[in-house]
Amino acid sequence: MPTEKINENIMIERKGDIALICIDNPPVNAFGLAVRKGLQDAIAKLNAEGTAKVIAIYCAGRTFVAGADIKEFGKPPQPPALPDLLNEVEASAIPVLSIMHGTALGGGLELGIATHARVGIEGLRVGLPEIHLGLLPGAGGTQRVPRLTGIPFALDMCLSGRQVGAKEALEKRLIDRIDAGTPYDVALQAAADVISGDLQTRHTDQIDTTPDDKALEDTAAMLKAKQAHLFAPHKVVEAVAASTGPLTEGLAVERKVFMDAMQTPQRAGMIHAFFGERAVSNIPEAKGDTRPLDKIGVIGGGTMGSGIATSCLLSGIPVRLIEVAVEGLERGVNTITKNLDGAVSRGKLSADKRDATLAMLEPSLEMEALADVDLVIEAVFEQMDVKKDIFGELDGICKKGAILASNTSYLDINEIADCTSRSEDVIGLHFFSPAHVMRLLEIVQGAKTAPDVLATGFALAKKLKKVGVLAQVCDGFIGNRILAHYGKTASYLVLDGASPQQVDNALERFGFAMGPHKVGDLAGLDIGWMTRKRKAETRDPNERYAGDVADRICENGWFGRKTGKGYYVYDAGAPVPNEAVATIIDEVRAANGITPRQFTDEEIVDRYMTAMIVEAARVVEDGTAKRPLDVDMVFLFGYGFPRHRGGPLHYADTIGAVELVKRIETYAKEDPNYWQVPDLLRKMAADATSFADLNKEA
Ligand code: 3HC
Repeated sequence: MPTEKINENIMIERKGDIALICIDNPPVNAFGLAVRKGLQDAIAKLNAEGTAKVIAIYCAGRTFVAGADIKEFGKPPQPPALPDLLNEVEASAIPVLSIMHGTALGGGLELGIATHARVGIEGLRVGLPEIHLGLLPGAGGTQRVPRLTGIPFALDMCLSGRQVGAKEALEKRLIDRIDAGTPYDVALQAAADVISGDLQTRHTDQIDTTPDDKALEDTAAMLKAKQAHLFAPHKVVEAVAASTGPLTEGLAVERKVFMDAMQTPQRAGMIHAFFGERAVSNIPEAKGDTRPLDKIGVIGGGTMGSGIATSCLLSGIPVRLIEVAVEGLERGVNTITKNLDGAVSRGKLSADKRDATLAMLEPSLEMEALADVDLVIEAVFEQMDVKKDIFGELDGICKKGAILASNTSYLDINEIADCTSRSEDVIGLHFFSPAHVMRLLEIVQGAKTAPDVLATGFALAKKLKKVGVLAQVCDGFIGNRILAHYGKTASYLVLDGASPQQVDNALERFGFAMGPHKVGDLAGLDIGWMTRKRKAETRDPNERYAGDVADRICENGWFGRKTGKGYYVYDAGAPVPNEAVATIIDEVRAANGITPRQFTDEEIVDRYMTAMIVEAARVVEDGTAKRPLDVDMVFLFGYGFPRHRGGPLHYADTIGAVELVKRIETYAKEDPNYWQVPDLLRKMAADATSFADLNKEA
């Protein structure tokens, strides 16, 4: 039988001395149960027949195996386990080769290096991205990669999760050669070459790892200093260290630590992040007809406008940048130039493409220059009347069908839209600073925004390689509205007894890259000060005022990093606490009759996170966010929320609604106005349901 279907994912084809095994499991040929079973049967069958001189494994579709099937994680494992299967492949009496195209990741690369020769097809990228899932390679990656590449490179691959291009993979012996052609044709040729002796085969398990204790010790020390809160990275070092012994022993160490990592909440959080990132734009609003995005206008050459322009340019979209005055325009062009230079030094843009990218920028002092653009993004300062004037003007200038977007972070898109004659073309596109780096884009739907305008917002996010999240109009949309609420908790903690540094340290230990006071210093304390002044008139008189300390800091002209002082002092070295702030805090406490008390780090994290969850629940309850996972993605991609916690509402599920309600009711005894149980949370506590259930229902 020349061709034989082993199961729905695996096919054998026999051609003389050559046997081909095709893996076909769209979309990314993940190693699901049927693939594992089918491959096991195919290898066993061909060995039992004993007629083929070589077996070549290749994949149908867009990629070689992109790894284990992540959807199976967290469920009871079903045999054959991937490491066992790959050992069987390695033990095959008939030499096996793999033909790798697209992205051979995780278990896919592990399959490749368990076979006896590997051919990469031009454009191939290989990698061990398990670390981004809270895991480490679990099917021989930590054992066979160091045998081929040496320990330092193996550590880099496992810890960075980065994708390695074909050329580098060849240099590091992860593949044996690079061919051009379809996987099928390359498989036939490579198999013939094995038979003729033109392509050598070898067993990775017969190669010894060159010991490198220094690399292991240095890496362990670096991880202890920088990633003490994570589980998997430390286990990578443990497993790779075991690769200098016999393979079977090393594989046993790897298996143990992989299974341990699988049990951690960190793994669950990171896998929630993986699927959330994809699910967030998998909604009807993101699909359907779109409008063109061939030329974009950006109004405002400040930090935001320049960042947005940079992001568009980096994605190959020509930009017209508009400013009212020459100095502003020059500042904008300079910032964009610097941003592009930074992209070159970070390896995001090749040096030879830099000038061509910059040449796509057309600066102008005339709004009329926006007459033929497809989309205008207004990024001037947050004042409603200024924005209304601009949109009124755009209405008269822009071509029919052009999309008019505001980058406002708080203001009412409907009010802005109403000052045009085409409110269906108006949308909010809220970028996060620095806009060419941060991946979040809140896509704000106005009451009259046309469906194709909304879908184009998502198309833009995709083009800019950002994570587009649908938000409805309210003060601050999803992210800033929640931030406005829980940010007060950080201030209350300081008023009541903690120091800004204790709050920052506790939350950094929880996993935030920076505590809230450091973030405030970085963003500029004047922004919050202006907002507090703007809202002073409408503030609820029963609300406990949270801004006393920050106001006093700002009154001194200390706006954070940009003025050299804020909560911290920024001289040449690492920031140090601003001692004058401690005095301000004492004075504010005395003036308000507060006797400071002690908070443990755990209490700080609990209060801060509970406040975040409370407002996040309300945002889901009133439909500002479509689902809990949308809130999670906003925080992961826009607010530095620790990825291994999955997002505020995934984290909320790890606490449970019952406990959260209990906590809020306890805190409410101190401040019943601020601490109120959202109806949704109360209902979830009563029904024993979770935010994950709501994600499934949506
Ligand atoms: N398992 C299950 N589903 C997967 C998957 C996997 N390993 N990788 C991707 N998918 C799914 C995605 O969820 C998405 O599904 P959807 O269409 O329903 O939303 C679909 O495949 C397409 O994925 P992308 O939208 O991400 O497609 P891209 O073309 O942009 O990217 C990719 C393709 C580079 C393969 C990217 O999907 C990716 O990085 N996948 C993860 C790879 C990975 O982490 N592999 C390691 C797995 S762990 C492992 O192997 C353990 C082992 O050591 C034992």
